[in-house]
Amino acid sequence: VAGVDFEKSCAAMADLPTPERPIPEVVFVGRSNVGKSSLVNMVLNRKQLASTSETAGHTRTFDYYRCNRNRTDGRPEFYLVDVPGMGFAENVSRGMQDSWRGLHERYFRVRESLRVVFHLIDSRRPPMNTDVTLMNMVREALDERPASQRFAYVVVLTKVDKIGYRETSVKKAVEQTVECLTSRGGWPASHLPPIITSSAAKKTRHGRDDIWRHMRAAFSP
Ligand code: GTP
Ligand code: MG
Repeated sequence: VAGVDFEKSCAAMADLPTPERPIPEVVFVGRSNVGKSSLVNMVLNRKQLASTSETAGHTRTFDYYRCNRNRTDGRPEFYLVDVPGMGFAENVSRGMQDSWRGLHERYFRVRESLRVVFHLIDSRRPPMNTDVTLMNMVREALDERPASQRFAYVVVLTKVDKIGYRETSVKKAVEQTVECLTSRGGWPASHLPPIITSSAAKKTRHGRDDIWRHMRAAFSP
């Protein structure tokens, strides 16, 4: 990926970039510490473009990264957006959590240039309440949007290196996710999102091609 750089951090809807000609964007969402910022770096082949941490609650704003900037006019082909984790984190106040939740909700509803939502879920444990909230938020936002403005929704099971890439463990994680999507997330079994796996651990780049495939499919007219 060439021509990648950071544009800005946004704490409210009013801060989001508003270029004259809209630029498509993709976002990585999920609970804190699930690996959003690490995946942004992995997808873009950068070591520490997005800051990561062992401590939950690290990313605190909607961070916009310009990708594949045009050499002549500097216009990016798309934005990649890293966001704060949803739900509980020890170092994050209740008020801050609520404000991030509200921002997610509005963003899914009204951000016109949004093309793909990657929802990251830890492959090591069943989806949490926070994930159920996100599944429902995304579904409701999609229901509200006109057909021409629907974004793609893709679930990513992260950190599969930690379950040793084992087929039985991956299968179990996928099954738990499907069960959660249908029973608590309100997703009809006939319209489930794709579920892929990833690892941002050293050099494996597991899942990178799948993520790019979904991005490319969403950008093509
Ligand atoms: P917040 O910004 O706090 O919401 O977290 P985040 O979702 O951005 O997570 P981040 O990318 O900062 O990663 C959290 C921790 O998990 C860090 O210690 C990462 O090194 C680790 N991590 C992330 N992805 C992977 C992975 O695929 N495998 C392994 N083994 N560790 C990972
Ligand atoms: Mg982060």
